[in-house]
Amino acid sequence: MTTNKSSEPAMGSAIQETANTEQIIIFDTTLRDGEQSPGASMNLDEKIEVAELLDAMGVDVIEAGFPVTSEGDFEAVSAISRRVKRASVAGLARAAARDIDRCAEALRDAVRPRMHVFISTSPLHMKYKLQKEPGEVLDMISTYVGRARNRIDDIEWSAEDGTRTEIDFLCRCVEAAIKAGARTINIPDTVGYTIPEEYQALFETVRTRVPNSDQAIFSVHCHNDLGLAVANTLAGIKGGARQVECTINGLGERAGNAAMEEVVMALRVRADALAYHSNIDARMLTRASKLVSAVSSFPVQYNKAIVGRNAFAHESGIHQDGMLKNAQTYEIMTPESVGVHKTSLVMGKHSGRHAFKEKLKELGYELGENALEEAFARFKDLADRKKIVYDEDLIALVDDEIIHA
Ligand code: KIV
Ligand code: ZN
Repeated sequence: MTTNKSSEPAMGSAIQETANTEQIIIFDTTLRDGEQSPGASMNLDEKIEVAELLDAMGVDVIEAGFPVTSEGDFEAVSAISRRVKRASVAGLARAAARDIDRCAEALRDAVRPRMHVFISTSPLHMKYKLQKEPGEVLDMISTYVGRARNRIDDIEWSAEDGTRTEIDFLCRCVEAAIKAGARTINIPDTVGYTIPEEYQALFETVRTRVPNSDQAIFSVHCHNDLGLAVANTLAGIKGGARQVECTINGLGERAGNAAMEEVVMALRVRADALAYHSNIDARMLTRASKLVSAVSSFPVQYNKAIVGRNAFAHESGIHQDGMLKNAQTYEIMTPESVGVHKTSLVMGKHSGRHAFKEKLKELGYELGENALEEAFARFKDLADRKKIVYDEDLIALVDDEIIHA
C-alpha cells in the first residue's frame, strides 16, 4: 500500500548534505569483532563479499580480521587487502612481536593498510588477564606500537577495557602510544559498562590532559551489554572522538557492538542536533544488513531499528490513518533512504477503516458504503483469529462478500 508522500522532507532528512559538518570516520569491524560472536563465523568468500559491499557503501576502514589467530583469518585479511581498493584495510594485533609481524604480512598488498594494536589497561585485566604491572604495560605500548609503526604508517592503538581504566594511567598510556607513532587512539567500552555522560567526559579529559593528543584522531568502540552502545557512541563523538567503530546489525561479542546502521542514520536524521556526517551511502544499509545476516546466520530481530522487518511497518489504525494522510506523522526517515522499497501498512486487528479501504483499492476493489462496512466487520473478525491478514485473505473475503451481496 502506498502512503501519501508529502513533498515536505521527512523530519531531519532535510539536513543530509555534508556541507558545514565534520566527517565521522566509519570503521567497520563486522569481519573481526562481529565474527567473534559465537556461531557467526564466515568463510573466505563470504568475507570477501561483505568487504566489497562495505567498500562500495563508503566505509572508511574495514577491519578484516585478526591474522595471528588462525590461517583462515590470515588468509581473509590478505585476500581482502588485495581486493579492496578504496577503504583502508585493518588487521588486529596484540602487543606481541608475532602478532605484529603476522599482521604486517597479511596487510602486505593493501592499498591503505592499517595495523590495530591493542593491550588491556584496566586494573582487572592487567592483574588477572595479562598478569603484568602497569609499568610493564606502559613499556609494552611503547615497544609494540613502535614495532608496528616500523612496518606500517597507519597505526591505531586501543586501550582494551578503557572505560574501566584508572584515568591517570589511561592518559599515560595514550601519551606513550602517540609518542610511539599511533595516529588513531581508540578507547573501547569493551564490556559495555559505561554510560553516555561518563564516556563523553572520558574523551574530554583524555584529550585535555594528554599533551600530544592533537596528533591523533580519537575513536569510540562500544559494546551493547546495557543496550547503550549507540548512545555511548554518540556521546563519545560529543566528547571529541571522530572515528566510530561499529558493525552491521550490531553483530559482535555477547550483546554485540554499536550498529552501523543506527549510528549512520542517527547522524543523518539528527544532523540538525549532531552536526556530523559520515560518507556511508545509507541506501545500501538494508542490503548490507541482509547480506551479513545471511552469511553469519544471525537473524535480524523484527523490531531492530533501521533494518528490522517492522522498521517501516504500521498496523495500528491510528498510525495507518496518519501515514495515509502524511508519512511524516509516524516515520522520521523514508524507507527509501535506507534502501527499503516502501512503507508497509500491515493489515491486522489494529487496522482501521481508512487503511482497509485503501488496501482494497490497491487490490482493485471499490466497494459501496454498505458492502465496505460488512467487509470491514468480517475482516475484523478474521483479524481477531489471525495475527496477520494477507492480501489473499482479503481477496477471498471481498469476493465472498460480492458473491453473497
Ligand atoms: O572491545 C574491545 O576492546 C575490542 C578491542 C580489541 C578493540 O574489540
Ligand atoms: Zn570490541
